[in-house]
Amino acid sequence: MAARIIGTGSGLPEHIVTNDYLSTVVDTSDEWIRERTGIRERRISKGETTSDLASKAAKQALESAGMSSDQIELILVATFTADSHMPSTACLVQQEIKATNAVCFDISAACTGFVYALSCAYAYIHAGMYKNALVIGAETISKTIDWTDRGTCVLFGDGAGAVVVQADESGKMTFVQGSDGSKGRALTYYGKSMNNLLTSLNDNNSYISMDGQEVFKFAVKKVPECMEELFVKTNVDIDEVKYFCLHQANKRIIHSVAKRLKQPEEKFPINLDKYGNTSAASIPILLDELYKDNRIQKGDKFVISGFGGGLTWGAALIEC
Ligand code: COA
Repeated sequence: MAARIIGTGSGLPEHIVTNDYLSTVVDTSDEWIRERTGIRERRISKGETTSDLASKAAKQALESAGMSSDQIELILVATFTADSHMPSTACLVQQEIKATNAVCFDISAACTGFVYALSCAYAYIHAGMYKNALVIGAETISKTIDWTDRGTCVLFGDGAGAVVVQADESGKMTFVQGSDGSKGRALTYYGKSMNNLLTSLNDNNSYISMDGQEVFKFAVKKVPECMEELFVKTNVDIDEVKYFCLHQANKRIIHSVAKRLKQPEEKFPINLDKYGNTSAASIPILLDELYKDNRIQKGDKFVISGFGGGLTWGAALIEC
């Protein structure tokens, strides 16, 4: 059995932080941030947790799908900024939206998380185990940021996006995915990982850290490569694709991918100017905008692609 996206939603913090505001926090400027990344502002949580934002997105997605929460059999939340390691964010969402019949767990694959989570939901549905799944990307990256590091603090934002995926022979999704743990050091967030009884090692103070140029080079090479693989695998002509919905990390990365694929930039929707890089949330937030504006309709073909920490990458061709 194949599957379709039948509902979308998003959950964004209300508080907007502009580049000008950040230039009062670190030595940066609106001009530098806009030119190097395309970001103008981002949403930063003022107390909303990852599960709060995820639940908001989930409720909207259910409403747009015309479904009740008890119909959902599977909740997957892609996040590297869970409220807690235990319980999972997916279980917290389940409790909040009262999806009492769902199996719930989180997926940790940084900015590729949503692509991986969607592929898991698709595989479950394809295998006949479940018919209705809620797939969410949700992050409060602001809590992982060193607000004195101008190299990272200007890039990220908080938010969540969700889709309802339903078994349906008229839809189809094809995935190409990969990981390279040997390059993991390029983008890290260790969190509170050490509190050792024997060595007294206690690391409660780690932040996101990144080799920006390494990640940039990886993204502009790997994303087009995995998309090209996708078109060979599906035998679909790239010109049939209406939109390429890339992880919203950097406008220059997106434009470089467009150039490499010889596709017009207009086919690569961008909203990172408003939200910054929201990691696993960026693709479903973008999809929510496209679906709400009726820019994606039944019969359309579009591609999603994520890339980031791990290192991880993935793309999917979605035939609606
Ligand atoms: N404001 C002003 N100057 C800044 C700055 C900021 N926020 N951040 C860095 N700089 C400075 C650097 O200190 C450096 O100064 P120097 O030349 O005096 O040493 C200069 O700008 C250039 O830094 P560099 O790191 O070479 O810039 P860049 O062109 O590579 O752009 C990124 C930096 C982070 C925007 C870019 O590398 C990038 O987008 N990488 C991908 C990151 C990403 O997408 N990560 C998430 C993937 S999921």
